[in-house]
Amino acid sequence: MTYSIDEELIERIHDSVNLIDLASNYVQLKRTGSNYVGLCPFHNEKTPSFTISESKQLFHCFGCGEGGDAISFIMKIENLSFVEAVKFIADREGIPIEEKSSYNQKLKEEKNLIYQINRDAARFYYLNLTRNKEALNYLKKRNLSKNTIKRFGLGYAPARWDGIKNYLTKKGYKEEDLEKAGLIGKKRDNTGYYDKFRNRIMFPIIDTRGRVIGFGGRVLDDSMPKYLNSRDTLVFVKGDNLYGLNYIKRTSSLKRLILVEGYMDVISLYNYGIDYAVASLGTAFTPNQAKLLKRYNKELYICYDSDKAGIKATMKALNILDKEGIKPRVILLPKDQDPDDYIGKNGLEAFESLIDNALSPLDYKLLILRMKYDIEDYEDKIKFIKEVSNILRGLKSPVEREIYIDKIAREIQISKEALEKEVVGRNDKNDSTFYKDKYRNGRNRHNKNKITPIKMVLKPAHLTAEKILIRLMIENRQYYNRIKEDLGREDFLNYEINILAHIIFDEYEKNPNKMNIDLNYIYDKLKDEKDLDYDLINEIMELNVELLSEDKRKLIEDLIHRVRMWKLKMDREKILKELKEIESKKQKDEGDVNRFKSLCLELTKLDKKLKSHM
Ligand code: UTP
Ligand code: MN
Repeated sequence: MTYSIDEELIERIHDSVNLIDLASNYVQLKRTGSNYVGLCPFHNEKTPSFTISESKQLFHCFGCGEGGDAISFIMKIENLSFVEAVKFIADREGIPIEEKSSYNQKLKEEKNLIYQINRDAARFYYLNLTRNKEALNYLKKRNLSKNTIKRFGLGYAPARWDGIKNYLTKKGYKEEDLEKAGLIGKKRDNTGYYDKFRNRIMFPIIDTRGRVIGFGGRVLDDSMPKYLNSRDTLVFVKGDNLYGLNYIKRTSSLKRLILVEGYMDVISLYNYGIDYAVASLGTAFTPNQAKLLKRYNKELYICYDSDKAGIKATMKALNILDKEGIKPRVILLPKDQDPDDYIGKNGLEAFESLIDNALSPLDYKLLILRMKYDIEDYEDKIKFIKEVSNILRGLKSPVEREIYIDKIAREIQISKEALEKEVVGRNDKNDSTFYKDKYRNGRNRHNKNKITPIKMVLKPAHLTAEKILIRLMIENRQYYNRIKEDLGREDFLNYEINILAHIIFDEYEKNPNKMNIDLNYIYDKLKDEKDLDYDLINEIMELNVELLSEDKRKLIEDLIHRVRMWKLKMDREKILKELKEIESKKQKDEGDVNRFKSLCLELTKLDKKLKSHM
């Protein structure tokens, strides 16, 4: 919505608003001399450093540095734009803002009429409930106390086509207006109107200013649809409101809010003593709802149904909340339960201990992934690692990322290095922060032009790694598939092993269904080669794969990593050697100088690579 804001209005706001009164809605203020102080609403603190000067009509926090006038206070605390904040204050102070536009005036009147109609409708439904045994019984069956029914203004829409229509038209409302409120609909044959809500328990939806904006209606049995909601109207936009938010006091000492899926979850939690739940009305949580929640500045918990749809919706809500900068915690329920089921079966204390054990978004996402995959299964494990890597790649904090890489690597028994590589390896065009972090902090920054030799790992270790990898590839196509993701034929540097690699790669690529390679076939192929060290080849062929580490997956990751490190180190040695040669030349021509420069550059690149692999 756009409003035109003129200087005059802003002036009027400054004239009529006392910042002390305005801020008192959010902060407990104490007078000290000519100023007022309180606990800053914009950051966490135990001793008050939030100060307002009444004479100047300005606030300032000595703790976090926030400061400004009434409008900036509202912008900040309600998370509103300038124009929205002006409108907000004008509304609150009763300063007419739309008087100049007759269109706006008309719209306002139309909206007010709908609020009024809705209020009367809620009254009608409530009265009907008190008179209807079946409906009362239904709520009793669901354990709702009289107090709870009253608080939420629950009602009952009678099982007829003209209940609300007759009641409200008799009160003087026009049918067209009832239709605008979404309570009645036009008959198909255009002969009049009919009640939209029939034989349903009615849940009035109330906005934060206490106006009834719409209804949800539930059947009393298993018929469909289970819930019917008001259609969107001038005053009701689905996704812009949260059920139950009207009962939450921004200033209450309770710092928590629980986001649940359904009407009955909010109501049932209240019934058992938790009066700080709100529902997203269906499973689709929207960015607008997130913005709305943000204004409340409370610790947010999500407690959606623990079924497939609920998990999916939780994931979606987490992403939306993350974009708003809200970091909620997720309450875990036993499989296929909702908050209403759980608190009904287990009581308040049990639910509160679930709250205490709520998970961070990251821990929740990881848990869900763990449940999705069977880590003992080879292919599942790979899929798990890929998905985990996608999540970890999105983490902004390198420290957090390291910690989780470490934790997960241990949990699922793969090498930390391998997981790290998976996290870094993909899509680094889009998200290269991890790389950059590593580059930035490393010693590489300092040795752009200085050459510090890296200690060489013993050559036999490299050879052993190549031997085992080759043997594993011969043994099983799955191992081959994994290894070839990271290593090509040319990466096997030992002369004999390189020849073996060619034979193996060629054979698997030619025969997609081949699951392993016959040793005799290899020996046969080797006949074409000359100058072979058959001791080495025999050693490889005789290696007993069964005796190798039981966790082949981890073993392979480690070996690949070792081979790649080795290759980098050997490249590095080659460069160093050439650099020394140029350095030792007494007469250096321009070609030498250029070559020297480009070698230094290569060396720096290599060091970066090495560093990121360590
Ligand atoms: P649920 O199907 O989980 O209902 O839908 P519930 O809250 O557990 O209700 P009870 O316990 O069976 O009475 C969650 C929410 O999704 C919306 C409603 O807002 C509901 O509260 N919904 C569900 C609909 O709008 N229409 C439907 O047909 C079903
Ligand atoms: Mn339920």
